[in-house]
Amino acid sequence: KEILLADYAAYPFAIDTIALTFKLSPAETIVTSKLSCRRLGQASTVLELNGGPYMSLLSLHMDGVLLEAEKDYDLSEEHLRVYNAPKSFELTVVTSINPQENTRLEGLYLSSGNFCTQCEAEGFRHITYYPDRPDVLSVFSVRIEALMEDYPVLLSNGNPAGAGEIAGGYHYAIWNDPHPKPAYLFALVAGNLACLTDKFHTSLGRDVTLNIYTLEKDQAKCDYAMGALKRSMQWDEETYGLAYDLDVYNIVAVSDFNMGAMENKGLNVFNTKYVLASPDTETDTDFAHVEGVIGHEYFHNWTGNRVTCRDWFQLSLKEGLTVYRDQEFSSDMGSRVIKRIDDVKALRAAQFPEDAGPFAHPVRPEKYIEINNFYTATVYNKGAEVIRMMATIIGQAAFRKGMDLYFERHDGSAVTCEDFVQAMEDASGFDLRQFRLWYSQAGTPEIKVDVKKGQGSKTILSVSQTVPSTPGQDMKKPMVIPIVMGFATEHGDCLSAQGLSSNIRPLGNGSFLLMMTQGADEFTFEGVEPTAVPSLLRGFSAPVEMETTLSELQQYFILNFDTDSFNRVEMSDLLLKKEVYKIAEQIEASQTKTVSNKLIKSLGQCLEAYERDPALISSILSMPSENDCISSMKRLSIDAVFEARQFLGKKIAHRLRKSLQSVYLSSRSAAKSLSLKGDKQAVHFRRLQNVCLSYMAKTGGHAENRLIVDQFQDSTTMTNKLAALQALVHSSIGKRKQLIRHFYKAYRKDELVVDKWFAAQALSTHENVHSEIALLQNHRDFSYTNPNRIRSLIGMFTMGNLSAFHRRCGKGYEILANAILKLDDINPQVAARMLTPLGRYHKLDKERQVLIGKQLKRILAKEGLSKPVYEMASKAYEGL
Ligand code: ARG
Ligand code: ZN
Repeated sequence: KEILLADYAAYPFAIDTIALTFKLSPAETIVTSKLSCRRLGQASTVLELNGGPYMSLLSLHMDGVLLEAEKDYDLSEEHLRVYNAPKSFELTVVTSINPQENTRLEGLYLSSGNFCTQCEAEGFRHITYYPDRPDVLSVFSVRIEALMEDYPVLLSNGNPAGAGEIAGGYHYAIWNDPHPKPAYLFALVAGNLACLTDKFHTSLGRDVTLNIYTLEKDQAKCDYAMGALKRSMQWDEETYGLAYDLDVYNIVAVSDFNMGAMENKGLNVFNTKYVLASPDTETDTDFAHVEGVIGHEYFHNWTGNRVTCRDWFQLSLKEGLTVYRDQEFSSDMGSRVIKRIDDVKALRAAQFPEDAGPFAHPVRPEKYIEINNFYTATVYNKGAEVIRMMATIIGQAAFRKGMDLYFERHDGSAVTCEDFVQAMEDASGFDLRQFRLWYSQAGTPEIKVDVKKGQGSKTILSVSQTVPSTPGQDMKKPMVIPIVMGFATEHGDCLSAQGLSSNIRPLGNGSFLLMMTQGADEFTFEGVEPTAVPSLLRGFSAPVEMETTLSELQQYFILNFDTDSFNRVEMSDLLLKKEVYKIAEQIEASQTKTVSNKLIKSLGQCLEAYERDPALISSILSMPSENDCISSMKRLSIDAVFEARQFLGKKIAHRLRKSLQSVYLSSRSAAKSLSLKGDKQAVHFRRLQNVCLSYMAKTGGHAENRLIVDQFQDSTTMTNKLAALQALVHSSIGKRKQLIRHFYKAYRKDELVVDKWFAAQALSTHENVHSEIALLQNHRDFSYTNPNRIRSLIGMFTMGNLSAFHRRCGKGYEILANAILKLDDINPQVAARMLTPLGRYHKLDKERQVLIGKQLKRILAKEGLSKPVYEMASKAYEGL
């Protein structure tokens, strides 16, 4: 059954308060819910509450009177309908649930023997009957009862309001949340947990206790997350004037979690992956993710909790905005340009393929079968780009005014994306009518930039755009595309440009903002230095695919001289991809493969100059991923492209062999000495060190292999250890198998490291990778009930190792379909997510599409297929 945005209707009752009592027990938990209700509609209005198949209704009272089935209410699989509701009344609902059998990890479930909840988007309906929709806000109070010995810690939202012992070894705790909230923000945790405590003093004078709860063994790994939390609180006060609004901020880390983390009011529940951070078991990238996700969930307290979504079509209202906020936070805490490079890479890896395939949907979707399938890169990451474009167009100062206005108008309510844009429009005075298309039109716009010399000293940029058609959207309108650009010269940006056409805005600092609004626009400048080269789409100012008429000479010029470091990386990426395609064409034409000397030389020069900006150089040097290479290829076969990419990587490794080794050694020692001093720059040198290492591994040389093994054995940081493990997996080093086993033995007690061990092997480029995967699926530590484990093996293999996944034999597709069929009974949400790669077939040949079609058909034929998997599989199948 499809849910439509167009069908939205306000809920006809208000639930002013809800008082919940939980009597916790793994096999049978009893939930009593007292709702104080007010009817808003006419007398005949039926009170409809959501429910689910995993819960039993024990009793139902209205104002103390026991209600009778069929006469007073009806119960179906998904609803409880109560008749004859007076103007105001109290409804008491008692249900029983079985957390121990809940492998779906939504609602109330157990993780490592502790109780926890996940209610977003629609998990609360599996706990009790309730209007489980984001526009019904209520004041929650919660009483939890459990065995004291097994569950010493009892947590829920808001502030603690009492605790004590009860007979029989039980105890209770009471939590009151003064802020009205929708049910998806409800949370409960009970268990045996250790706690790291700290405090934060807000700008409004509130003393907040900060707690991070984990299993005892993980407690030592929480310091970094605690620091990140305090930095987030500080940043939101400084940047947006937003302060925290409760006396406690609790975070609980659990090992079994469907997503990254959850912003429940005052009680965030996190995947351990985004809390635990220690240099010997987590990589620099993991640290960055922890900081980002801690920030993300904290920022939700205002963008999500204080102002929430009217309905789930508006999900990007909170997610796009909060991703934008966490990106900005991380930029301010570290290197802005590196953060942007990594974010754009992630957008291209996940969102562009989504936009180009059968799952394409607008940032604000118009229909869904299963809302959990819409927690996507489009809603999150493209949604953040949409916010970023607004900030670019109206400017930072106006954006801040818009945020203030947004909170002034909507604090405490459930609103729409439209309300957000309206606030930005009203605060800035900009007309954003056409801009709103970014919310409703799916597909990645493609722009073509033609650079021409006009009469006299005129420079003309002709830009055209097209938006590809996507499922259900054939015809598209031209979008507003903000293009930030400058003119690069050997001595910095050209500052002499003048006589700008009215669609250009100077941004100071040598950059300009070109406002594209039509199918084709012209932008004219005068007095630009004749040798200056346009540097376009700086900082990726819009989420589009761009082609330009820049000559190769000009492209190299940007790579070497642009003041915008982001665009230097873009250019090396483009030049590397072009080289891959050239080689692929040679392969298809059975010609000798050749590699451009100029490309190698330029990369070599960048590498030699590594010291000024090691992280940037590491990005310039990195090979475009397999996914990137096939996303932007035209006509070629993926076989040729994968082979060409391999070939180019090897060639670079051989031709720059000396420099790679010497830069490897010097960045390794720079990283070491900086990290001894506690200098954060160490991260950047380690990043370069390990990019060098990955190239060195491609040579198979004796000296290189030695260095890989040394790094594997000697390194004390997981960043270096894992980089060496990854190099080892691909290598033909004799002791390879033994060393991989050694890694497992050393870390087998640490789940998150074992995940990395699975993931590294899922990326194997070996001939027998499919049997290696099969072996790993039978490994005693592999499990279908733990989402992190599924993602590290199945997710990595199918989304990160495309040349192995897409082998002609079709075995890759079969492995995935088998896993999905198994998972469908255990955890449908995760099963549906794993289906993503089966929708990424638009660049594949017919034979492979047929093989994928077969597997999709098998999945669709499964009896009792879950709703989430059905929606994904049928969309993918229809798109074929
Ligand atoms: N709101 C959470 C976040 O972005 C994501 C939780 C989504 N969970 C789900 N099962 N759909 O931080
Ligand atoms: Zn979020």
